Amino acid sequence: MSKELLVSIVGDNNNLMTVSWNDVPVYVKMIDQTKLPESLEYLICKNHYEIGEAIRNLSIRGAPAIGVAGAMGLALCANNHASDSKNQLLSDLNSAYNTLVETRPTAVNLKWGLDKIMEVSNRYETVSEIKENVIKMAKKMSYDDIETNKNMGKFGSKLIDTGDVIMTHCNAGALATVAYGTALGVIRSAKESGKKISVFATETRPVMQGSRLTAFELVHDEIDVSLIPDTAVGYLMNNKMVDKVIVGADRILKTGHVFNKIGTYQIALLANSHNIPFYVAAPLSTFDLKNNLDAIVIEERSVDEVVQIAGKRIAPKGVRIFNPAFDLTPPDLITSIITEKGIISPPYEKSISDVFGMDDFSNFNNQ
Ligand code: MRU
Repeated sequence: MSKELLVSIVGDNNNLMTVSWNDVPVYVKMIDQTKLPESLEYLICKNHYEIGEAIRNLSIRGAPAIGVAGAMGLALCANNHASDSKNQLLSDLNSAYNTLVETRPTAVNLKWGLDKIMEVSNRYETVSEIKENVIKMAKKMSYDDIETNKNMGKFGSKLIDTGDVIMTHCNAGALATVAYGTALGVIRSAKESGKKISVFATETRPVMQGSRLTAFELVHDEIDVSLIPDTAVGYLMNNKMVDKVIVGADRILKTGHVFNKIGTYQIALLANSHNIPFYVAAPLSTFDLKNNLDAIVIEERSVDEVVQIAGKRIAPKGVRIFNPAFDLTPPDLITSIITEKGIISPPYEKSISDVFGMDDFSNFNNQ
């Protein structure tokens, strides 16, 4: 792996973002994460179908990154629209919305990104105004994401002490966002502020976001990282090898219930029984203030992710497979949630409504 390749992947200038918009010619460029860490390959998407496929097959993944990619998918749909009819354009956007929103059901950021573009498209009168403004918004969302992560990093790094050994799960890094990361943003920010820290990254079976992406990003940043099998979490905690856990999130309810990559719940349980603080880092776009627990769909992914490793079959033919991609961590296992507006602590129903500046959630309609 060349230094140049690593630098180009986690840098945060415009050319090197996980997902970015290109004006002339118009396309969306994204790092194909299915090819990492062996090679850096970009995908060029020219329409929302290609964006939808990239989201579905994990070429782009991570809640904030798919939120921005979805928004850019709708912006491509608008840009590609040929008629002068506003109604026709809105109808095309609606159908693109429906295609994109179902690609990954658990991460609420995808719906958040799509809703933001629909709001903008409904605000303008002419086709050209709509096109111009949805593209502007999709681009802005990508720059805002970097700013958001940096702010989250600054708040979160206050929770980190020099000498800390931090465990993280899945990839909540630059590659899961537009750049910098949520959980890894906190780790980056702590390192930038001069704290000496080290990290245990879980492999995160079955798709290996921990080994393929998190270990890769941290090696680049010269942050001391050790990769462990998912099954080693209890051993490390029981042997006092972990000071703190920080993970990202795909959806956080108003009650503080956190949906994140499968395996998060068991890490939170283990952290709780070993008195290890368990932090979640997530932007406000990851909060779903409208839905209750029973409305949330846990994505089930292909059995191939479980029966194969790197294309090689490792399970007998005929075995039944269950492959849920996310799980639910209840609020009583979460020490604090780090957001771009500050750190929020239990009781979550109160602190979450405070951070959104609301007295109650009944009229809130962000989803
Ligand atoms: O299936 P993935 O790779 O999209 O899952 C990603 C995660 O679960 C991340 O922890 C989450 O999206 C937060 S990313 C900042």
